[in-house]
Parts: sequence; structure tokens; C-alpha cells
Amino acid sequence: MLVVYFSSATENTHRFVEKLGLPSARIPLRLSDEPLTVNEPYVLICPTYGGGASMSRQNTRPVPKQVIRFLNDEHNRSFIRAVVAGGNSNFGSDFGKAGDVIAAKCKVPYVYRFELLGTEEDVTICREGLLANAAALGLAA
Ligand SMILES: Cc1cc2nc3c(=O)[nH]c(=O)nc-3n(C[C@H](O)[C@H](O)[C@H](O)COP(=O)(O)O)c2cc1C
Repeated sequence: MLVVYFSSATENTHRFVEKLGLPSARIPLRLSDEPLTVNEPYVLICPTYGGGASMSRQNTRPVPKQVIRFLNDEHNRSFIRAVVAGGNSNFGSDFGKAGDVIAAKCKVPYVYRFELLGTEEDVTICREGLLANAAALGLAA
């Protein structure tokens, strides 16, 4: 069970992933950093950065560019099995929208959505859900 995640300088997603306590690999923040290459099935955990595009009608993109770059690598993309997204419920219908976009593009299930760094309950539900369904999701080691 591998978690691949991105987190910006605010590190909310990083803190959520730390609490999950599962093996993890982080997509680098700076595009000048050495890109991450993954060689086994993983669940991607990604924060949303669209800025509430549905309401503002701006053509902003909910998936961070670092994550797009990671998924544009066909080898990395071939191992994604599920997506979990972070966000802020203030963004209404755009809450956790990065998960919808990634699920549609990569044809994987959007299995959990959490706010900011997640509550203890989020951590428990997400962790137990991933572990209990690892085989069904194709995430078993
Ligand atoms: C510029 C900006 C745009 C954002 N847009 C959205 C959004 O459209 N939908 C959403 O659910 N959360 C949105 N968020 C909230 C972030 O997803 C949330 O703060 C997340 O926890 C950030 O994770 P990180 O600290 O790991 O980068 C936005 C945050 C910022 C700063």
C-alpha cells in the first residue's frame, strides 16, 4: 500500500498523510526538483487549487501543476489505483474537485474527500477503508 501525495507550503495534505501512517512518497513542490518516479500501485492524495472556479467562472485548474506533471508521465500514471482529495468546504461545489478531475482522467475511483488537514475521524475512516479494500482497489502489495 503506497500513498503518493502532493502538498504545498501550507502542508495540510502532508499532515494528513503523516497521520495515515502508511508508506508514502511526496511529489516535489518545485518543478526544478528531481521528478518523482513510482514503480508500484498507489493511491494519490491531492489538494484542490481551483479557487472555486464554478462560482467565479474563471478557467482555473483544480489539480496542482506539479501533480499534472507527475501524471503526465505514462509510467507513473499506469500505477494509480485510486484518488483521495483535500480541499476547503468554503468552495462549495468545488470542494475537493481535484479528485473529480483526476478520477475522470485516470479512470480510477474517487474514494475519499477531506477538509484541510482532516479530522481524526477522517484519518481513521480513510486509513481503515484503504486497508480493508486494498485488494479490491488493486493496492495490495
Ligand atoms: C489559491 C487557493 C485555491 C484553492 N481552491 C480550492 C478549491 O477550488 N476547492 C477546494 O476544495 N479547496 C481549495 N483550496 C483549499 C486547499 O485545497 C486546502 O487549503 C488544502 O488543504 C491545501 O493543501 P496543502 O496545504 O497540502 O497544499 C484552495 C486554496 C488556495 C490557497
